[in-house]
Amino acid sequence: SRTAAVIPAAGKGVRLGPGAPKALRTLSGTPMLVHAVRAMAASRAVSLVVVVAPPDDVAGVKNVLAEHAMSDRTEVLVVAGGDTRQESVRLGLDALPEDIDIVLVHDAARPLVPVDTVDGVIEAVRDGAQAVVPALPLADTVKEVEPAEKGEPEPVVATPERARLRAVQTPQGFDRDTLVRAHHIVRPDGEGATDCAGMVERLGGPVVVVPGHEEAFKVTRPLDLVLAEAVLARRRA
Ligand code: CTP
Ligand code: MG
Repeated sequence: SRTAAVIPAAGKGVRLGPGAPKALRTLSGTPMLVHAVRAMAASRAVSLVVVVAPPDDVAGVKNVLAEHAMSDRTEVLVVAGGDTRQESVRLGLDALPEDIDIVLVHDAARPLVPVDTVDGVIEAVRDGAQAVVPALPLADTVKEVEPAEKGEPEPVVATPERARLRAVQTPQGFDRDTLVRAHHIVRPDGEGATDCAGMVERLGGPVVVVPGHEEAFKVTRPLDLVLAEAVLARRRA
C-alpha cells in the first residue's frame, strides 16, 4: 500500500492577525508549511505530499518549498486550493495518483506534530480502520449554548460529560475510497463539517480515535505562535 499526505494550506489565517497567509508565516525562521511538510515526510510510510496552496499564490508556495530542503524520499506536489478547507482538501484529493490507497489529511497549521503520532494514525488505517483521528482529552469543561444577540449573555443548553469528549487533531487518516466518497457526496458548503472525519460520520462510516499529542496543537491565534516557538526551542535544547 502507498500513503500520501494532503496538506490544506490555502487559508488566510484571519485569527492570527494581519500578515502573510498563515502557512507562510515563520516559526524559528522557517515557514509553518515547511515544518508541516517535513512532519509528514518524517514518516517512512509517506511517499507523496500534496500541498494545497492559496489559489492566488501557488507560485509563491512552490518557491518557498523549493528553497527548503525536504526528505528526498518524498515527492511534493503543489495544487491550488479553494474558499473552504473542505474544498481545498477535495482539490488535493483530485491530484492523487491512482496507486495511493491511504490518505492523511494534515493542517499546515499543525506544524509540530511528532512522527510517532503520524505513524500511529497510519498504522490504525493499515490495521483496517476506514477513518482515524488523533485526539486528546479536554482540559476545559465544555458548554453547549444557545447563540444570543451580540452583547447578550448566552443561555447554557447542556454540559456534555467531559470524560467522553476528545479534542481532535490532524493528521486524520483514511482509506482513500472512503474519504473520496465522503468528499463527493457531502456538499462543499454542507453545514459545518469542520473536519474530514465528520464527513465520513455523516455517511454513517465508522471513525476511530487514536492518541493525539500536545505538540500537534493548531496554530490559530497569536499566543499559539509563542507556544510553537517555545516547543521548537525545547527541541533544540
Ligand atoms: N485551509 C485551506 N483552505 C481554506 C481554509 C483553510 O486549505 N479555504 C487550511 C488552512 O490553511 C489550515 C487548515 O485548513 O492549514 C485549518 O484551518 P484554520 O486553522 O482555520 O486556518 P485558516 O482558515 O487559515 O485560519 P482562519 O480561520 O483564522 O482564517
Ligand atoms: Mg479557517
